[in-house]
Amino acid sequence: TAISHIRNFSIIAHIDHGKSTLSDRLIQLCGNVSNREMKEQILDSMDIERERGITIKAQTVRLDYRAKNGELYQLNLMDTPGHVDFAYEVSRSLAACEGAILVVDASQGVEAQTLANVYQALDNNLEILPVLNKIDLPAADEDRVKQQIEDVIGIDASGAIGVSAKSGLNVEAVLEAVVERLPPPKGDPKKPLKAMLIDSWYDAYLGVIVLARVIDGTLKKGQRVKLMATDGSYQVERVGIFRPKQEMLEQLGPGEVGFFTAAIKEVADTRVGDTITDEKNPTAEALPGFKPAQPVVFCGLFPVDAADFEDLREAMGRLRLNDASFSFETESSAALGFGFRCGFLGLLHLEIITERLEREFNLDLITTAPSVIYHLHMNDGSIIEMHNPADMPEISKIDHIEEPWIEATILVPDDYLGAVLKLCQDRRGRQKQLTYAGSRAMVVYELPLNEVVFDFYDRLKSVSRGYASFDYHIKNYEEGDLVKLSILVNSEPVDALSIIVHRARAESRGRSMCEKLKELIPPHLFQIPIQAAIGAKVIARETIKALRKDVLAKCYGGDISRKRKLLDKQKAGKKKMREFGKVEIPQEAFINALKMD
Ligand code: GTP
Repeated sequence: TAISHIRNFSIIAHIDHGKSTLSDRLIQLCGNVSNREMKEQILDSMDIERERGITIKAQTVRLDYRAKNGELYQLNLMDTPGHVDFAYEVSRSLAACEGAILVVDASQGVEAQTLANVYQALDNNLEILPVLNKIDLPAADEDRVKQQIEDVIGIDASGAIGVSAKSGLNVEAVLEAVVERLPPPKGDPKKPLKAMLIDSWYDAYLGVIVLARVIDGTLKKGQRVKLMATDGSYQVERVGIFRPKQEMLEQLGPGEVGFFTAAIKEVADTRVGDTITDEKNPTAEALPGFKPAQPVVFCGLFPVDAADFEDLREAMGRLRLNDASFSFETESSAALGFGFRCGFLGLLHLEIITERLEREFNLDLITTAPSVIYHLHMNDGSIIEMHNPADMPEISKIDHIEEPWIEATILVPDDYLGAVLKLCQDRRGRQKQLTYAGSRAMVVYELPLNEVVFDFYDRLKSVSRGYASFDYHIKNYEEGDLVKLSILVNSEPVDALSIIVHRARAESRGRSMCEKLKELIPPHLFQIPIQAAIGAKVIARETIKALRKDVLAKCYGGDISRKRKLLDKQKAGKKKMREFGKVEIPQEAFINALKMD
């Protein structure tokens, strides 16, 4: 295809506004099998793979579209992950496109969470094509939503296309607009190969598959290529595209998007945003904007049942096959036994991984307090990077501690602004900027990452009823008056609950953790003191009163079947408890004790 007849675009949409339904329609209109049908077919024929937890990815679909002007166009529809921790991945996917379709539910209007992606698309100079979906619904109000797009996002929405992705009404007009209103890519076939690595994943049959966008030159079968950031060199074995079924080709030219395989062993060898070039005739300059994925949040993951340790290791290895940004190494804890110290791109990434481990691999886990990387400047002049409070050296040896700060951008409707400002202020935030777009405020705050890793995101969602969107990047390291807060249950320190906090907040955090644990740990036959301490100094204390025997006797008395039921229930409950000395602490206590209300 001539480069003037290529269009690369992605679809930006809020959850449930109809991105998948519209994609499927576009694919069907171009005569291909829809993504969903495709997935079902593949999955049906690959039950074993599904059981093994291997997912099928086909994020980019090539379509051939015969436009009303009679010409044939190559359309590459790219999928983007919709998640703040993956903002970098999203930015690379968008950088591989010239345009984006912005889908807005005409009965709902613009939602805050979409904005971060729209702004990224604008930053990447993408042409934005607004599409109003669900115009079949009685509540659809096209004019209002058009006005809102103009007010909130600040782009011209007069040409917005109203469609019903569900019924197919007017969807063809979207394809026409893609051809007419989105610009074709630019690129020079005579220059040396220069391509951007958009994504990669592990396939049981083909090994690592790399999705790439060719900028200049051609990517050919048999060619020796170099990945510039990792300095890896490989021979290209296969080149192809997804329709969404795989189709092998001889080569990909400038402006085209497709995949290749090259006997690359691990996904970790392929970095999103890296530049792929010809080994013998390399491009002079790598693409701008490459950032290596670096874990910024760490926590310990321990099996509730120590016998699950090997299963946990295997499950994590499986997840890592397709997610090189997640790292883990074995760790042992005095209280929790053997487990793993894990690194994540952010808090939501942590949640996704732990949820997958629990759901897909059926593991019961204890997650220890999330931690960021602290720089400990020691008296002897050395600097230690610490990401586990359990590794904190003696205070007397430390000169000062530095912690990472982020710059956060929050978009929130006016009504919830006050609550959001208070939340940021409570977390040691420094307001940098406050501006308005329509009835929405955009606030920029500097915050210590260590305040954000404890349920900041959950709190933000809850104080804004889900309307606030949040985006951040690490800014710098700054000195802070930080201390290690330890929690003692029945006089024994529970290392999984120790956290690093700002001194000014240590007492209130300590008190709130003790209060929470008092609620979360069931009473035993003896009294249990719960204490928070900095070093040897106890700063907060709660006591769980002992159970009275006669109360027990009463409630277990009577009908034998009821008694058995109670015992069974207790047994099931037991599985999710961990013993600390003589005290049993339920699994959920670990995460819940850390939440700040
Ligand atoms: P996620 O996959 O969760 O991100 O959602 P999505 O944005 O891909 O939305 P999806 O396409 O799954 O559609 C969400 C819901 O809206 C589904 O129940 C669709 O059937 C429905 N829907 C999509 N398009 C239309 C439409 O044009 N009209 C009506 N009435 N419903 C629609």
